[in-house]
Amino acid sequence: MRHFLDLKDFSTDTLQSILDEGLRMKGTQKSGDRHELPLSGKTVAMIFEKPSTRTRVSFEVGITQLGGTPLVLSASDLQSGRGESIEDTARVLSRYVNAIMIRCYKHETLLNLSEHSSVPVINALTNWSHPCQLMADLMTMIEYHGPLAGQTVAWLGDGNNVAVSWIEAAVRFGFQLRIAGPQRYAPPASLLAWARANGGDIILTDDVNLAIEKVQTVVTDVWISMGADEGSRCKDFAPYQVNAKLMRSAASDAIFMHCLPARRGMEVTAEVIDGPQSAVFEEAENRLHAQKAIMAWCLEVN
Ligand code: CP
Ligand code: NVA
Repeated sequence: MRHFLDLKDFSTDTLQSILDEGLRMKGTQKSGDRHELPLSGKTVAMIFEKPSTRTRVSFEVGITQLGGTPLVLSASDLQSGRGESIEDTARVLSRYVNAIMIRCYKHETLLNLSEHSSVPVINALTNWSHPCQLMADLMTMIEYHGPLAGQTVAWLGDGNNVAVSWIEAAVRFGFQLRIAGPQRYAPPASLLAWARANGGDIILTDDVNLAIEKVQTVVTDVWISMGADEGSRCKDFAPYQVNAKLMRSAASDAIFMHCLPARRGMEVTAEVIDGPQSAVFEEAENRLHAQKAIMAWCLEVN
């Protein structure tokens, strides 16, 4: 069963082949050539426990472009919202649809769904990780700076779900990831240990200047993720705001990335996210192309 749950589940070759296919599909679409329809006759269910703009629209449009039928299911409309188990939901949906994409709070919900589903399951964000986002981000890095191995990336701020997928990507693709943020918000120690044991070039620091020095990609995310408490986060993360002064210490051709939605004036200034180094809308577009390739891989139709 070809689930797409986390980047660490895959070999570098498999991930690279999905990225290559996403780039190829992007080229096909941009050139105006007739798009192949590998999902013709197939239905993909999309379950959302949390809000979404990019994921919801890029999956729905991507499924449609590949000839399939998207089925958007808000968790609150499903019987699971009234207590039906995720195991039964998985067994039932598997009888109707060809793949299931889910955005949920607990990573365990995703894992339970995948264990009891007889069709591929795709992780569209949990509190733990966001691998589809990373596939789009990696595509964007390739477009701007070429092959991933040896590149340098600075992640500023919260060691959150997106940071987890960045760490897994850095290990699989051999680029250096410098994570700068307050120690109490560092990514999970178990994951950092896994990354180090697997040869990851991961630098953990609270020194933002060290992280940013001559780096090729600067990336951040909201300080308060969906479902997180605000607490003292705004004060704690303030020194890690990506601003123009900081960007001047990065490489001269450095790009800025952010998975979006962004809060201008908080984790990033408007000058940076709306400036010439920002790749955020290319990155957002790449969700569409990367996920089409992920679905084609899951359904073994490419
Ligand atoms: N980046 C991302 O996943 O955006 P949405 O929450 O809008 O889907
Ligand atoms: N870390 C953010 C990502 C949003 C796409 C969140 O979980 O809210």
